[in-house]
Amino acid sequence: MKGVILAGGLGTRLYPLTHVTNKHLLPIYDKPMIFYPIQTLVKAGITEVLLVTSGPHVGHFLGVLKNGKELGLKHLEYAYQEKPDGGIADALSLAESFADGNSVTVILGDNTTDADISEDVRNFKEGALIFLKKVDDPKRFGVAVFDEKDPGKVIAIEEKPQSPKSNMAVTGLYMYDSRVFGFINNIKPSDRGELEITDVNNAYVKEGKLRWAELKGYWSDAGTFNSLAEANNYWANKGGK
Ligand code: G1P
Repeated sequence: MKGVILAGGLGTRLYPLTHVTNKHLLPIYDKPMIFYPIQTLVKAGITEVLLVTSGPHVGHFLGVLKNGKELGLKHLEYAYQEKPDGGIADALSLAESFADGNSVTVILGDNTTDADISEDVRNFKEGALIFLKKVDDPKRFGVAVFDEKDPGKVIAIEEKPQSPKSNMAVTGLYMYDSRVFGFINNIKPSDRGELEITDVNNAYVKEGKLRWAELKGYWSDAGTFNSLAEANNYWANKGGK
């Protein structure tokens, strides 16, 4: 399994911090944010990684990550997303030739977790697997809608709903088979002008090919001042491992 880290965007919710550098290079306790998703992949045995980035500070990544060896990667590639506000699915579309017909584990560069996904990586065969986590503020995320008759079944994902139908957020950790690139080709930009990963996940739902697992362990994104501070506190208390 290969890994894709999506680390683009302008990080506008974190201005003026993101005038200094790319969001994913801001510190979380004792290291740049991007080290955490890399660690998650390496811990799961994924050492061939594509980093997709964009925005005014793209050059900073090379100086920090170099060829990825210091972080345990065997192979690190970079891709440049021309539209920094094109959305997560647009960024993922750049991974098609890297994936080369194989499945990929995708992680958002601002997601930090201490969950161990090795077994899910080993067992993944086809379709899509998303990881859900119970949250207090589901309106901020993609949210799972469950079947009333079969509560274990996800029947849709709603992106940042006004009235969330559950408190299970879609984390920024996904596994897809190679059909993901075809699904991305068929989706249209959302109201916020982005190609949404939620629309890709719903395409898998329609085919009955979306599975989910609960992410075991701590999880946070870091796209807002509060979530960035919260992630810093958690990792500082844990000693940054
Ligand atoms: C994105 C996804 C959302 C997901 C979240 C996880 O949101 O669109 O479905 O729940 O990442 O971090 P964004 O950070 O782009 O607002």
